[in-house]
Amino acid sequence: EGARAAARRMREREEREQRVFASTVDLERAALCECGCCPPRASQEQSDYCASLFSLDLLHKSSRLRDGLLMKMKEFGRHSCICDDPLFKDYILTEAAARSSAETFSMMSGEEITDQNKSYRYGAYRLFVAPTMANYGKGVRVRLPACFVKKVRELWPSNNYTGFSYSDLFDM
Ligand SMILES: *[C@@H]1O[C@H](CO)[C@@H](O)[C@H](O)[C@H]1NC(C)=O
Ligand SMILES: *[C@@H]1O[C@H](CO)[C@@H](O)[C@H](O)[C@H]1NC(C)=O
Ligand SMILES: [Zn+2]
Ligand SMILES: [Zn+2]
Repeated sequence: EGARAAARRMREREEREQRVFASTVDLERAALCECGCCPPRASQEQSDYCASLFSLDLLHKSSRLRDGLLMKMKEFGRHSCICDDPLFKDYILTEAAARSSAETFSMMSGEEITDQNKSYRYGAYRLFVAPTMANYGKGVRVRLPACFVKKVRELWPSNNYTGFSYSDLFDM
């Protein structure tokens, strides 16, 4: 009983930490895929979202993520999916960049790379977040767009994914 309640509290805290939108935003509206690249809603988590990052009301930290992307994307508005912007196609979603991010993290954290594909995935996640969220420093938690996570998992798959561990992302 106690363990189950503790697990529920932990889940609730994670849900709160991963919120992206203002409380007035309907999560189903936010999840509505407008880019054509997101996985089916049934296979997503409740607070997954699509390009709605650019059109709906955001919490402060996620507005930082949006503003950083707007600054960094090279062809905003030209592609229905952000992942087709050169920022992603030519940089973040490349093996060279993901690998370099993974190896730098491994060196800084002292954590050996045991699962190469997982290290590349998290390397790519960090490249997405780092330039925009750096000021939040350690322990920052922000959910990334569903289509981006899907693409990363297609590039560097694993047999199973242990969810999305935000502590794996940034806790050094
Ligand atoms: C790792 O990703 C590569 C493609 O980038 C894939 O060919 C390989 O099967 C993946 N390894 C595992 C263990 O899934
Ligand atoms: C898959 O998940 C199981 C159970 O959570 C775990 O024991 C196993 O190591 C995982 N396999 C991979 C390849 O990560
Ligand atoms: Zn989408
Ligand atoms: Zn997309």
